[in-house]
Amino acid sequence: MAARGVRLLTLLPLRVQRRQVQRPLRRLLSCPGTVTADLRREEQSSGSAETGSEDRTPKKRFSEVQNERREQAQRTVLIHCPNKINEKKFLKFLSQHGPINNHFFYESFGLHAVVEFCQKESVTSLQNITRTPSLGPEAAIPFKSRYFNLKLRNSLNQTSELSSIQCSNQSSPSSKKLYQLLCCAESVDDQLNTLLREFQLTDENTRLRYLTCSLIEDVAAAYFPGCAVRPFGSSVNSFGKLGCDLDMFLDLDEIGKFTAQKTSGNFLMEFQVKNVPSERVATQKILSVIGECLDQFGPGCAGVQRILNARCPLVRFSHQASGFQCDLTTNNRIALKSSELLYMYGALDSRVRALVFSVRCWARAHSLTSSIPGAWITNFSLTMMVIFFLQRRSPPILPTLDYLKTLADAEDKCIIEGHNCTFVRDLNRIKPSGNTETLELLLKEFFEYFGNFAFNKNSINIRQGREQNKPESSPLHIQNPFETSLNISKNVSQSQLQKFVDLARESAWIFHQEGKDRPSPSSNQPWGLAALLLPSVANNVSLSKKKKKPPSERIKNLLDSIKSSGSENSTATNGRRAISTQA
Ligand code: GTP
Ligand code: MG
Repeated sequence: MAARGVRLLTLLPLRVQRRQVQRPLRRLLSCPGTVTADLRREEQSSGSAETGSEDRTPKKRFSEVQNERREQAQRTVLIHCPNKINEKKFLKFLSQHGPINNHFFYESFGLHAVVEFCQKESVTSLQNITRTPSLGPEAAIPFKSRYFNLKLRNSLNQTSELSSIQCSNQSSPSSKKLYQLLCCAESVDDQLNTLLREFQLTDENTRLRYLTCSLIEDVAAAYFPGCAVRPFGSSVNSFGKLGCDLDMFLDLDEIGKFTAQKTSGNFLMEFQVKNVPSERVATQKILSVIGECLDQFGPGCAGVQRILNARCPLVRFSHQASGFQCDLTTNNRIALKSSELLYMYGALDSRVRALVFSVRCWARAHSLTSSIPGAWITNFSLTMMVIFFLQRRSPPILPTLDYLKTLADAEDKCIIEGHNCTFVRDLNRIKPSGNTETLELLLKEFFEYFGNFAFNKNSINIRQGREQNKPESSPLHIQNPFETSLNISKNVSQSQLQKFVDLARESAWIFHQEGKDRPSPSSNQPWGLAALLLPSVANNVSLSKKKKKPPSERIKNLLDSIKSSGSENSTATNGRRAISTQA
């Protein structure tokens, strides 16, 4: 039935050429030895986010990447520009304040330029010649930020010199474009890698994310000098798709930390502070005031909502200048540690990110995930499921968290709010996997594995890398890796889980059918990953559900029969294997 659905799909034009990689404008004046040059070199050589698993250069620790990007952002400014400018003159004007290391333009409520100076002092110098606008009858609240507005003096005289600017792309390709690219790929593995390439955060997008955090930090620092605003979640864990939200964390630990030399003598100095009844109340008060401040005075911030009664209180706002939807939290150090763990898993094997991106896109295409909170599976849970599945392969592609803990040394030790969050942080100390399975096989088996997983009695646990009895009755139980008594998918309803299982089975079945009879590229039919991503596959299936025997049972039977024939014949044929039983 699903195969019939595939046949009914709209035929796609195949006049598509491979997408030309858009080369954004690169640096005008270089500053040798800066982190920018290093980060860019790394990105280009690996083709992956911050670390490349294929290249043999030592892989950077998460904290190193965070610190370098943060320092880079502190030397960077954001400028709202007229739609047409003379780029050369613009850069010449700015370079009066010091050499520029990198710049690019993008569109978000008008043309914007991101300009990274070589030195922080250049930013101060630029701020010193910048005026606060006079707005006629309205009044401006003066705020010396790093977000500027560029105006043309005597614009009439300059008209002939102005031109449109090439903008760096900040969004993912349209569905149509994606299907065209996928249909032109040479193999399913090539399709998964294409999807990763098209959706992963670009260097420019990552810079913009760190810059946005840095700009928000400037506002927060007015209340809490010495604070830091750090990105976490998919912006930094290497699983972020272009267009994903920007999760940020207001880090006040540096302020609370006592760093001075121990003093001797009879006296001890302490800061005068206000006391509140609990850590939670402190978090709510801090976020309340920062939310108010962003709303009233934050340049480029709009639609500020203070969601202070949530389990994890947050301030949500739209940073119109960058185009990001932002969630600001504080006292959320465990989430930052989870981001570090996912970053490590993403960097350990090049197949991990390709698989996670495909599963995330598949789930989004079939409305299994949503940007609105609800009873759906989240991207974070899906990522955990992929990691768990890769730990279950034979030989395993990813190590368990318990194993990463055994590799940790004294410096890696990390206890947060009583939870042991220790694991080795040096990626170079983890041996690569000897598993050589293709992405095609892994995706197919991911669907088969979770299409048949005993969700009613088992829990998913990446700490031990094996199923465990469910400690509670939620339909889906995925153990929080650090707060082990918590379930990260407690919100998922039985019907959403069933939808996931049905779609996983359908997809495994489509893959199996295709293995036997793959449409040729000239047939203009979506195949492989393209066929799985089309939401109409699910729609056609559910339409025909009404007329025929329920597909889940039929497909489960089919899968059972595939399984038994797979175990009889699990050897590779022409580099492809029949679906085999789970290791
Ligand atoms: P997308 O934003 O969907 O691309 O993925 P994300 O990983 O950024 O997820 P999200 O924005 O929902 O959450 C940000 C981060 O918060 C995640 O990466 C996790 O580190 C953490 N997080 C999200 N949901 C949970 C949860 O249910 N439990 C725990 N402990 N942490 C969570
Ligand atoms: Mg997020």
